[in-house]
Amino acid sequence: MATGNTLVVRVPERQSPQLVQEQLSLPIPSASQVQVKVSHVAQNPTDVQCFDVNAFGDGAVLGCDFVGEVTELGSGVTRLSRGDIVAGLIWGGEIAGLGGYSEYTVADQHISFKVPSNISKAEASTVPLAAATAWLALFSKGCLDLDRSKATGVSVLVWGGSSSVGLYTIQLASICGFDVVTTCSPRNEDLVRSRGAKHVFDYRDPHVIEKITEVSPNIQHIFDTIGDANSSSLSSRAFGGREGNLCTVRPGKANTERVTANTRVTDVLVWTVFLKDHRYAHFHWPASKEDHELASDLFDNLSTWLEQGKIKPSRAKVLRGLGSVTQGFQEHRDGAISAYKIVYEL
Ligand SMILES: NC(=O)c1ccc[n+]([C@@H]2O[C@H](COP(=O)([O-])OP(=O)(O)OC[C@H]3O[C@@H](n4cnc5c(N)ncnc54)[C@H](OP(=O)(O)O)[C@@H]3O)[C@@H](O)[C@H]2O)c1
Repeated sequence: MATGNTLVVRVPERQSPQLVQEQLSLPIPSASQVQVKVSHVAQNPTDVQCFDVNAFGDGAVLGCDFVGEVTELGSGVTRLSRGDIVAGLIWGGEIAGLGGYSEYTVADQHISFKVPSNISKAEASTVPLAAATAWLALFSKGCLDLDRSKATGVSVLVWGGSSSVGLYTIQLASICGFDVVTTCSPRNEDLVRSRGAKHVFDYRDPHVIEKITEVSPNIQHIFDTIGDANSSSLSSRAFGGREGNLCTVRPGKANTERVTANTRVTDVLVWTVFLKDHRYAHFHWPASKEDHELASDLFDNLSTWLEQGKIKPSRAKVLRGLGSVTQGFQEHRDGAISAYKIVYEL
């Protein structure tokens, strides 16, 4: 039986989880999936967070952002062909044995896009999860629910514009016609401006809110792409006490207890792009056909937008092989990642 090298979470009795390379049999695509031989997998915070709390248990394979060559087609696949180079989002860890840190994986044809020739495979692997999160946060009914037909003159505050999610949010909001105000460290100001941000402020500046409200006094929409202990409460002050919708990247709305009065809090969960219920602790995200279709629209457009330069991929810091994943995870824990994504070349 054919096998592929895979990085598997193993949890020996009374020990912490470990990452072990093993040979697993090749995954078989369901009707709307393709099987892919992975060449690149990008690291996301969720990989490290799930590993550190042993979210999926023994046998899980983490990794959500991949690029690779289509090797098999499910019976209902119409959008992709064998030999295509595709990038896609998968729910690494959710199903034992399936994830991105693997020589082979399977992916939904609607949550994947063909990689255009003007960007590298490593760069392409930075796109799917962060762009899908940004898209849902901006346009899902359960999030900011922005009206794309009335974008002119409407400002969106993207807190954390140099994060992976932030960089794609700036670009997607800008190409839809919204005015983007954002925050980042001064060293990343030119980068976020080059992606479309109109106004950029340092989130560590004690006067950051006054400066934001001076240039944009009527903000009604905030996407907090950071979701740390202070980012939602601080950014919500940009509403100036007026009503506004703040969407946080923290599923379950963690760290939003201290937002200003009149702030309506919503949260984004990228896994709603898959037609599957999700439960975590006492939270429940039902399967959402609307979010799946919204995300499919994004993935339909990504190849063209990347090819035309309307969306620029994030910088990829490439590490070689699955043996480097432990090093990359540590870089995330150290808080060292700034305006780039770690990508493993297999
Ligand atoms: N709910 C979901 O479905 C979902 C999906 C994707 C991600 N997430 C979560 O979203 C967060 C961001 O993910 P990511 O991959 O985009 O992270 P990332 O790129 O690794 O984030 C690093 C960036 O965060 C910025 N940053 C750190 N603290 C900040 C603060 N207080 N204010 C503003 N910016 C700050 C840094 O900016 P500077 O270097 O410029 O200082 C740096 O560029 C993670 O917590 C992740 O778990 C959730």
